Amino acid sequence: MKYMWEGRFKEKIRQDVIDFTSSIDVDKKLALYDIVGSIGHTKMLVQCKIISRKDGQKILKGLENIKTEIEKGRFKLKASDEDIHTAIERRLTELTGRVGEQLHTARSRNDQIVLDERLYIKDVLKECLYLISNLQKKMLKRAEENFNVIMPAYTHLQQSQPVLLSHYLLSYIEMLERDKNRMEEALKRVDVLPAGVCACCGTSLPIDRKYLAKTLGFSDVSKNSLDTVASRDFLLESAFVCVLLMLNLSRFSEDIILWSTSEFNFVELPENFCTGSSIMPQKKNPDILELIRGKSASSIGMITGLMSIMKGLPLSYNRDMQEDKHLAFVIFEDTLSSLNILTNLAGDIVFKKDIMIQKLSQFTLATDIAEYLVKKGVPFRESHRICGAIVQYCLRNNKNFTDLSLNDWKTFSPKISKDIKNILSFENSVKGKKSYGGTSPELVKQEIDRWKRILR
Ligand code: ARG
Repeated sequence: MKYMWEGRFKEKIRQDVIDFTSSIDVDKKLALYDIVGSIGHTKMLVQCKIISRKDGQKILKGLENIKTEIEKGRFKLKASDEDIHTAIERRLTELTGRVGEQLHTARSRNDQIVLDERLYIKDVLKECLYLISNLQKKMLKRAEENFNVIMPAYTHLQQSQPVLLSHYLLSYIEMLERDKNRMEEALKRVDVLPAGVCACCGTSLPIDRKYLAKTLGFSDVSKNSLDTVASRDFLLESAFVCVLLMLNLSRFSEDIILWSTSEFNFVELPENFCTGSSIMPQKKNPDILELIRGKSASSIGMITGLMSIMKGLPLSYNRDMQEDKHLAFVIFEDTLSSLNILTNLAGDIVFKKDIMIQKLSQFTLATDIAEYLVKKGVPFRESHRICGAIVQYCLRNNKNFTDLSLNDWKTFSPKISKDIKNILSFENSVKGKKSYGGTSPELVKQEIDRWKRILR
């Protein structure tokens, strides 16, 4: 017998049907998780006296051997292996004979695949959490090293106000922390044992799912067998939190790409993270960052695909769900590789602090001038109008704020006195932003210290 289910069929199985339904090329990635699940399942079958201790031992030994074969790259797939579950069971019966035929007692591939996916995703999310913390630590280190660097903040990609580069870097640490929070939340819902619900309704055999959950390290046991084989929201949610993270990585990448252009020239990218052009000898391209941006785009496509698979599926299990794996794998793998390489790259970006401050337009101080007038009793709308007129005057006469004499200033408002000088300083501008969450060095320093305690 080549196919475990062929007992029911009279006609010979068509090769094109086998090829079309096979998922082994994709789900072979889950091989080691499938072994872990089977080891737990065997222990549970022995514990519940559904199979003998002796047979259980033989099966466990067989599974350990297959595990070694997989780890050493010696595990050979056969053309008739429909998926990773059948491949491992086939190999087990080769190794143990009829004894191995007991392994699939009280389980179905419908609950087995969910178990494999949950075990795999638990590892992925834990790895992500670790890698995000690493990236945060790297950003924090850069924020500390570049503490006094002042640069333009942007809105609408136009210079808005002076800001500390450290404040900018800390903004990504905040975003990444929320990504971590979301992953921790998702992890709770992944950490639920699905195994033992069998095809969709449970089993008449005396299994112990709580024992199995403990053996496999799950915090909870699923409560409804139909829901357990029918649902993939744990996978969608996990993939989605990765996609959200990728969007953040993409935006950081985009900023650094922009900053590395000769137009901005705010950063120098490490050469060994760039590639050249086949025709233009002068080129040094930010490919890593562009690829993170590109991968974040494809991850949006994949999560959309995943959601589309689930929409409208009748309960409970449907083969459509087999299509979830290649999409999810790409999202998870791209997330992990992007986190890894971006962390390495972030450590080596050179921030050109002189150019950052040189490129700051004095007009980024206009809001500070408006607030100066507010402090002198002018209503904000009026002070905004006054400053607008000053900017207009400067632009028309090709002047900067610092080119204006006290008399010039006074023609716009009699409230302006010689202390206006103090306002015309980028350092004083950032120093003044003391409102909670603002960019004053004092607050930014406190934030750096807070993150140091958190990320230690
Ligand atoms: N390869 C299947 C999947 O990924 C595993 C479950 C198959 N179940 C079945 N009855 N054919 O969803």
